[in-house]
Amino acid sequence: MSESHRSLIPSDLDRAGRYHLMTSCVVPRPIAWTSTLSSSGISNLAPFSFFGGVSSDPWTVMLSVGRRRDGSYKDTSQNLIDNSEAVIHISTRENEREMVASSAGLDPEESEIDFLQLATFPSIDVAPPRIATAAIAMESRVVQHQEVGNGPIDLFLLEVIRVHLREDVLDKDLPDAAKMGAVGRLGGTGYCDTTATYEIDRPH
Ligand SMILES: Cc1cc2nc3c(=O)[nH]c(=O)nc-3n(C[C@H](O)[C@H](O)[C@H](O)COP(=O)(O)O)c2cc1C
Repeated sequence: MSESHRSLIPSDLDRAGRYHLMTSCVVPRPIAWTSTLSSSGISNLAPFSFFGGVSSDPWTVMLSVGRRRDGSYKDTSQNLIDNSEAVIHISTRENEREMVASSAGLDPEESEIDFLQLATFPSIDVAPPRIATAAIAMESRVVQHQEVGNGPIDLFLLEVIRVHLREDVLDKDLPDAAKMGAVGRLGGTGYCDTTATYEIDRPH
């Protein structure tokens, strides 16, 4: 076995080098396709792959949102700070083009949902709408907001208070990863999906 390794100290790298190395190491990342509402009622939709599960009691997920180059909040952060509510959709192959297109930097007065002409359903417990084609949509409320790092980035912990599961991706009562075709973010412009799955039994 080759013992050849490269050891790097991330803080020695420049900003772009740090970002590209980290986003190529921490893979695959699920993508939170996140809908929020501004205080003036304009809907916003954007994808975030610095996203993950934190707790199942109660259901809690984390979302990490960077700042704009001028240090201002992205629309998603501003809306979460103002209104605390989001619908987080798990990104899947069938709407991946719309998901990537929704990362365009539109003005706060412009809605990515309207711009991309996406059909929505009203949510039940929160104000932001949910995307009609999404296989999984989680109605969520912010329980904690913290600035992290030198950016800084805005880390949000959100409690999921209701989850919508599209019937056709279920196997018995649970989402089936292969049926869902959930999309993972890799480094650069790379993506993967959950169609090549396998199982490993755990030790007793
Ligand atoms: C697949 C994908 C994943 C992304 N992940 C993140 C992320 O984790 N954090 C972040 O700040 N921006 C991320 N972005 C960029 C944001 O989506 C982008 O800045 C967007 O314009 C923010 O929208 P907003 O200002 O409407 O909130 C990602 C973009 C794509 C396409």
